[in-house]
Amino acid sequence: MSLQAVGVLGTGRYVPERVLTNHELEKMVDTNDEWIVTRTGIRERRIAAPEQASSDLAYEASKIALDKAGISPEEIDLIIVATITPDMSFPSTACILQDKLGAKKAAAFDLSAACSGFIYSLANASNFIATGTYKYALVVGAECLSKITDYTDRNTCILFGDGAGAVVLGPVAEGRGFKSFELGADGTGGPLLKVEAGGSRCPASPQSLEGKQHFIYMAGAEVFKFAVRIMGSAAEDALRKAGIDKSDVDLLVPHQANIRIIQSALQRLALSEDKCMINLHKYGNVSAASIPIALAEADEEGRLKEGDCVVLVGFGGGLTWGASVLVW
Ligand code: UT7
Repeated sequence: MSLQAVGVLGTGRYVPERVLTNHELEKMVDTNDEWIVTRTGIRERRIAAPEQASSDLAYEASKIALDKAGISPEEIDLIIVATITPDMSFPSTACILQDKLGAKKAAAFDLSAACSGFIYSLANASNFIATGTYKYALVVGAECLSKITDYTDRNTCILFGDGAGAVVLGPVAEGRGFKSFELGADGTGGPLLKVEAGGSRCPASPQSLEGKQHFIYMAGAEVFKFAVRIMGSAAEDALRKAGIDKSDVDLLVPHQANIRIIQSALQRLALSEDKCMINLHKYGNVSAASIPIALAEADEEGRLKEGDCVVLVGFGGGLTWGASVLVW
């Protein structure tokens, strides 16, 4: 069976209006702007309004992506939302988004792979299209991390932000589109990055609230070491699978967790910083939404030209990682 080439037909992003700066965080926890900027590269992040949930951010980003693709919601066959902050346990955020958009014929589900979720979702959606099961898919990364962040914990509250990015996938001309996916997981590292309560292991209770177990817990230094190792190697593996040399990469779009992690990946790939999309100074780490927001912003800035070799790479809780090579 010959496979249909699959690519990105449109991108969109949305971030909430409220900006939380490092200077504001100085008043909330024992930290300072200089520490945050030198250790992470982050200067500010966006925070959703109390009434905004992930599907609301996803909806705004999706409308823009559909518009740019020139595809109506009724034409979408599949919606995947990558998120660790769904509106609720169920129904899925993808189903809520399907309803908001009026994407009546779309199958819809959420995918949980933390910060790697968007790349995992792209791999899923692109396979459905490549094999002819579906024609058009909407793939979204949407997060309201502020709702699960402990703003008394300086180890985590300086890092995270809210936002959504979306892409419409569909058939493209032979030679363009996704060339490879490299996905991986190491469940032994699960305890390093987690929200412990609210599931079936530790349902919500007065004790779980008191123990702050509904907030993100992270062993930062351990995750950092893993990230430095995996970002470069996952990107290299995806390039090898695609049969493309790293010297041919036009733009790297990495997960936006920490500027030092991004710099180590650039070093490993022998790429200069001008070949990398970096926006973490404005939005912080938005988990599954980081890569699609960065991709949409690169698109808006005219940094993606037809035929360009683009590498997406991310890592996150699970532990998980994912990379993809695509020809724009
Ligand atoms: O999306 C995937 C998930 N997350 C990540 O990718 C995050 C990966 N990890 C990191 O980015 C880094 O580990 C952090 C930015 C979280 C921390 O940076 P670090 O260089 O690994 O610092 P550290 O945790 O080793 O802490 C160094 C010091 C400690 O003080 P002592 O023990 O040396 O006295 C911390 O208590 O910095 C202290 N510290 C802070 N100081 C000021 C930790 N957080 C802060 C803070 N402000 N916000």
